[in-house]
Amino acid sequence: MYNDQPIGIFDSGIGGTSIWREIHQLLPNEKTIYLADSKNAPYGQKSKQEIIALSMKNTDFLLKMNCKLIVVACNTATTNAIQELREKYDIPFIGIEPAIKPAANNSRTQTIGILATKGTLNSELFNKTTEMFQDTKIIEQVGYGLVQLIENGQINSPEMTQLLQSYLTPMIEANIDYLVLGCSHYPYLIPQIKKILPPHIHIIDSGEAVAKQTQNILRDKVGFSSETKKTPIFYTNTNPKVLSEILGGNYLVEEIDF
Ligand code: DGL
Repeated sequence: MYNDQPIGIFDSGIGGTSIWREIHQLLPNEKTIYLADSKNAPYGQKSKQEIIALSMKNTDFLLKMNCKLIVVACNTATTNAIQELREKYDIPFIGIEPAIKPAANNSRTQTIGILATKGTLNSELFNKTTEMFQDTKIIEQVGYGLVQLIENGQINSPEMTQLLQSYLTPMIEANIDYLVLGCSHYPYLIPQIKKILPPHIHIIDSGEAVAKQTQNILRDKVGFSSETKKTPIFYTNTNPKVLSEILGGNYLVEEIDF
């Protein structure tokens, strides 16, 4: 079974490109359409109802582009809206959730840290997940300000270092041995985070798992593309400069109103 329609991917901004990268690497023959709703970022401080409405707006756009499957490349949108998306639309959705399970299962100190948005940490879905790991101490920290700095192109700024230090120091002191990055923007901070954390602390995110899950759904339900090597398409509703830069200037980014 083949299906040549594109895969749609959306995020509140540029962070979901960390997920797009994993998908594109694993499935290079698939055509991908990436939608960055940067005008409305950050989603992390918005209400559940607002996050649902924005996720539906993004989905409507990607469905108009004839997507065969949608990857919600945003932990905040997944944990707050994926159930409503699945109820409303007749298309497979793949979401991204913080990788609590592998961190808790492998932790030797039985203490792990998670850095995510307020929307993710307060969500019912996230709290249901953490309840399953009662034996592990989970230190939750909202990454206030991090998404805004990334969206402004200030990944390597002194403000970023300062914020990261203030969020990670209490986790180091609490003896975590795993740090879960629970926001798709945060993998872009790994070089800075590594400078702060001692080397024995593992950093994990969910990008690779999402790409594998996409591959499974294509194989079992939707169908792979029959053609080879497709050029990805990137859309943003703000100035395309930062998105283009984070992609290494290798792809065309189109600014559109949506
Ligand atoms: N990148 C998103 C996430 O994974 C959302 C960040 C935000 O817009 O607050 O949570």
